[in-house]
This record gives sequence, C-alpha cells and structure tokens, in this order.
Amino acid sequence: MDDTHAPADTTTVTEAVLPGIVDPDGIQVRTRPARPAGPGQVVLEMEAAGISFAEQQMRRGKYYDQPPFPFVPGYDLVGRALDVGEGVPGDLLGRRFAVLTKTGAWASHVTVDAGDLSAVPESVDSAEAETFVVNGITAWQMLHRLAKVRPGQSVLVHGANGGVGSTLVQLARIAGARVVGTASAKHHGAVRALGAVPVDYRSPDLEGRLRGHAPQGYDAVFDHVGGEGIVTSYRLLAAKGTLVSYGTASTRDVQGSSKAPVLKLFARLMFWNALPGGKGAYFYNIWAGRRRLGTFRAKLHADLAEVFALLADGRLVPQVAARVPLTEVGEAVRLAESGTVVGKVVLVP
Ligand SMILES: NC(=O)c1ccc[n+]([C@@H]2O[C@H](COP(=O)([O-])OP(=O)(O)OC[C@H]3O[C@@H](n4cnc5c(N)ncnc54)[C@H](OP(=O)(O)O)[C@@H]3O)[C@@H](O)[C@H]2O)c1
Repeated sequence: MDDTHAPADTTTVTEAVLPGIVDPDGIQVRTRPARPAGPGQVVLEMEAAGISFAEQQMRRGKYYDQPPFPFVPGYDLVGRALDVGEGVPGDLLGRRFAVLTKTGAWASHVTVDAGDLSAVPESVDSAEAETFVVNGITAWQMLHRLAKVRPGQSVLVHGANGGVGSTLVQLARIAGARVVGTASAKHHGAVRALGAVPVDYRSPDLEGRLRGHAPQGYDAVFDHVGGEGIVTSYRLLAAKGTLVSYGTASTRDVQGSSKAPVLKLFARLMFWNALPGGKGAYFYNIWAGRRRLGTFRAKLHADLAEVFALLADGRLVPQVAARVPLTEVGEAVRLAESGTVVGKVVLVP
C-alpha cells in the first residue's frame, strides 16, 4: 500500500461539531483518531464538503428531521477512497466519489457505505463537482422525475441564485424551457447569466409581475419558500401545470415546532392535488423511497451521473461561492447565511 492509501487507523480526523443551538462562531472543530472502515464501508478523505440550507435549519434546531445535538453536520461531500472494509473491492482505493450523507460530511475523513458512492469524473474539480451533489440530485429529480419539463415550457424557479435554484435554472434551460427566477435585486446579473429572467421576490405585486412573464401560467413552479407564498405559486400554474414544493425557507426563523410548517404545507399540497382540473402539487423529498434501498441508490447514481456528465461537458456551470478551510467552518457558515453569495460555499481540507 503506498502513502496515498495510508491506513485509516493511523490518521487523525478533523471534524466540525454542532454542540447545540449556537451562532456560527460556536461551531467547534475537534480532532480524534480515525476508525478503520467496517464491513461494506469505505473511508473517504474529504476534498470538498458543502454548506447547504439544511445546516442553517439544523443550527437553529429547526430541521424537519433534526438530529440530536451534538453532531457533525454536512449534507454531502466529494472525497477519495482511503480505506475499504471487508467485502469492498480494493480497486476503489484512490478513486474519487460523491456521497449524500445528510450529516457527517464536515470532516477530513468520512466513513460511508460503499453502496452510497457515486463516481466523479476525473476531469472535474472536486469543489465544482461538490456543488452538484445534493443540489444536482434535487434539481434533476424535481425537473425530470416529478415535473417532467419539456422544451418550450415556462418554468418559475424561486431563489434562482441559491444552490438548488441556480442548478434548476441551468438544467431547465438545457431541457429547452423558458425560465423566470426570483432573487434579490443584487443577484439579478448572476441569474440573467444563467439564462433566466430575474424578478425581485421583494417587489410589490410579485404575483402580477410573475404573471406578466407567463400570461398563460407556468408549466412548472419550484418553490422552497413555503409559508403563504405557496398559494401564489399554485395560482401561477398553467392549466396542466405542476407545483413542486421542496422546503419552507420562510419559516427558518419562526419560533416553535420545526414540523408544523411542513405538515401544514403537506395538507395544502394534498388538498390541491385532489382538486379536479389537471394541476399537480407535490412535495419533493430527496430521501423518499429510501426503504427500497437498491432502487433508491440506482436512481440517485443514474441522476447524478447525468448531472456530472453535463458538468464535464461544460454545459453546467458550477457556482462555487467560496472555498473555505474546514478549520474556518464558522466563517464559512456565516458567509453562506449572509445572503450575499451566488451558489454554494464549499469546505475544503
Ligand atoms: N426537499 C428536499 O429534499 C430538499 C433537498 C435539498 C434542498 N432543499 C431545500 O432547498 C432550499 C434551498 O437550499 P440551498 O442549499 O440551495 O440554499 P441556499 O443556497 O442557501 O439558497 C437559498 C435561496 O433561497 C433564497 N431565500 C432564502 N430565504 C428566502 C425567503 N424567505 N424568501 C425567498 N427566498 C429566500 C435565497 O435568496 P437570497 O440569497 O436573496 O437571500 C437563496 O436564493 C432549502 O429550503 C432547502 O431546505 C430541499
């Protein structure tokens, strides 16, 4: 074994820990000895790990599926296989993979199940690939598996400068759709560069302005904001249009239960979906279907391969807002939450 494949048990792991509900500065960085990969597992040496909106909610104890404190956050990563456990082919060693973890990725070394590994093309940069792991899977599945967007259709993307939003805009344009994207005014140049018509989500008469860009209604609306705005999103649909709701960003700072806003949203979507007339209203959850693990993984690997192929071809343009060392995780979280960035803040070793 050469020195690029050092045994994991002689390695020190650096990891970021959320000890409780804290400000970004309260996120701790600690070290511990690495554990060797168990049966069926792989230890990845992290090359890039993402900061997602989910961690903004987790930091406030407001994530729908909130893990108990303390825990190591980190929804996704790209890393190189450093150690493999029993039953895992040795030829994985040294190869680069992407993994959706939900938690645990903000660490220098991350242990995952071999079945969760998606190959990353060698021609792409790790941080750039990282911006498309949770964002790419989410955007691809909502666009192609749920809304089934076709050329010539009109699509509305809320938060078009965000991680998922900027990916949705690009994939919808590649699919041949016309895209309108809401974003703060300061991000309009970036949204336009991605190929969408920008609209300020704080503008008075937002609904009227959005309707002005699609008088017949939108064939698909992607809404991560929730709250009362979801009613507008539904009203903006074309006769056979599809609303895909996938978050409740507007309730991040609202006191009380993290589940209540989501359950209220589910009830609304179910009601709308039951109405006659041909409109669809769905909630997308990236973890749905995980009980049938083989099918779940096969879809995830196939969809991420499509996204990475577009990245490798230069058709998808990665939006790396910043690369910040893992040891400066508090600063990275502060930046990601500042509302000043386009795309994704990525942690690097
Ligand atoms: N259901 C699922 O399986 C799933 C999977 C992945 C992500 N998500 C959800 O997707 C959303 C986006 O995640 P991300 O990682 O892409 O986040 P992100 O990069 O932080 O982007 C968030 C975007 O939302 C906008 N925004 C924030 N608060 C808003 C509000 N109150 N009203 C309107 N827009 C608002 C931001 O605009 P400014 O920059 O102008 O503030 C930004 O464009 C999150 O809600 C997340 O929970 C869901």
